[in-house]
Amino acid sequence: MALAKYVDKLPTIPTLKPTDRVEGADYYKIVISQFKEKLHRDLPPTTVWGFAGRYPGPIIDVMKNQWISIQWLNELPPEHLLPIDTTVHGAEPSVPSVRTVIHVHGSVVQPESDGYPDAWYTKDYKVVGPMFTRKVYDYPNQQPAATLWYHAHAIGITRLNVYAGLAGIYIIRNPALDYLQLPKDAYDMPLLIQDRTFNEDGSLYYPSQTDPPNPYVNPSVLSDYFAENILVNGKVWPYLEVEPRKYRFRIINGSNSRFYNMKLSSNQPFYQIGTDQGFLESPVVTPVILLAPAERAEVIIDFSGHRGEHIVITNDAASPYPRGGPVDPDTTGQIMQFRVTKKLKSRDNSIIPYHLTPIDPLSVKDAVLERDITLDRMEDEYGRALLLLDKRRWHDPIEIKPEVGTIEIWKFINLANSTHPIHIHLVRFLVLDRQPFDVDHYQATGEIMTTGPAVPPELNERGWKDTVRANPGELTRIIIKFVPYTGLYPWHCHILEHEDHEMMLPYEVIY
Ligand code: C2O
Ligand code: CU
Repeated sequence: MALAKYVDKLPTIPTLKPTDRVEGADYYKIVISQFKEKLHRDLPPTTVWGFAGRYPGPIIDVMKNQWISIQWLNELPPEHLLPIDTTVHGAEPSVPSVRTVIHVHGSVVQPESDGYPDAWYTKDYKVVGPMFTRKVYDYPNQQPAATLWYHAHAIGITRLNVYAGLAGIYIIRNPALDYLQLPKDAYDMPLLIQDRTFNEDGSLYYPSQTDPPNPYVNPSVLSDYFAENILVNGKVWPYLEVEPRKYRFRIINGSNSRFYNMKLSSNQPFYQIGTDQGFLESPVVTPVILLAPAERAEVIIDFSGHRGEHIVITNDAASPYPRGGPVDPDTTGQIMQFRVTKKLKSRDNSIIPYHLTPIDPLSVKDAVLERDITLDRMEDEYGRALLLLDKRRWHDPIEIKPEVGTIEIWKFINLANSTHPIHIHLVRFLVLDRQPFDVDHYQATGEIMTTGPAVPPELNERGWKDTVRANPGELTRIIIKFVPYTGLYPWHCHILEHEDHEMMLPYEVIY
């Protein structure tokens, strides 16, 4: 059931205060639990999972180089809220159904603090996964200012744990860049976009079956899920009253499968200032922003000159993207509304700077190798779509072992029929180019026959990324430097239904 739009205010997500200081570092104890929260005016409170008693979780807000530690404490009840498919790797009937491990997406941390999918744990650490090593995670935050996000990552049930509510925002700021005079404080806010479907009683609905139902497996994993209502910061289709001035928004696509192709109904542009891993070199004026699951865009929207207007962020991304069904313009075709109804409190001294921060590109000449990696659509033993990276599975021997400090080019050869947002833990990378090729010819011969020129990324994609859209029928090349840590990290498609169903592999950074 689709709910009434723009009847609830956009929630301001509070910033979490550290619990303690331990050895000179801020220490946070964050309880993960189940509770009820009101997600829309007309919905009874919804049972959700969240952090520190709220969904989405509170903002963790740190300065660059400020070391913090977090204990993510699992206090979830013994029953899962959503249907678990025990045929999926890592979710077998022998493992506890309620288990979690938290990953800060985009953060540069040692492997033991990264939230490895097999490092899950249950309440009070009664049962732990095979890769569990520690209770307290360390985050050095020695990376450029950026909008990161944290979310559940346990093997085989990430789609369900995140859908139940286990996601929140993590911001790294760099005070040395304050001279940029971007909109700040009350004029700088995150917008975490997610989609959810509800039952009449307010409970979360997540399908237990494919369509048509799988004859062998019940409940069954789906190959994707597009829910009916769009939430921002945990409210369904909220509105935000704004002043006629500039605002900075940190937009995060925290949805399981849904892409958003966003425009402003006032036809005004976004000034995009950042991507996944921080600032672009210069702001990019763009009428449209496309975000796949896990991608982020930082933008400035200038509401001056729009006094009294109601402005909607619209969405026209097909699902699955890009060849699936269209959105409904009345529901999933809209995300949230701005009402330019507040009085200007004081003069808007913020600016849209001409230059942000330099981006020192990695040189193709310095790459030690170029890896060809196929994105495949196959079938599993129950006849369900099975999307794989390089035709490999999570438990196969590890093929990718870059040497620490080296630069590699990864070329994704997408043989499937939809876009896969590929995320690599630990590292940041740049998109080099995308090039169409003949998929049938490749399937028949294993050789790449390109059918058009290699196209550099859009201007607003020329920043540091941790998640890249690999489109069907295209070669997508990225360049990566493997620093600063060694060890085991996952990389995967960030469509969570794909990730849970084998579209994830470990890689190992070695000496
Ligand atoms: Cu956003 Cu491996 O995750
Ligand atoms: Cu995928």
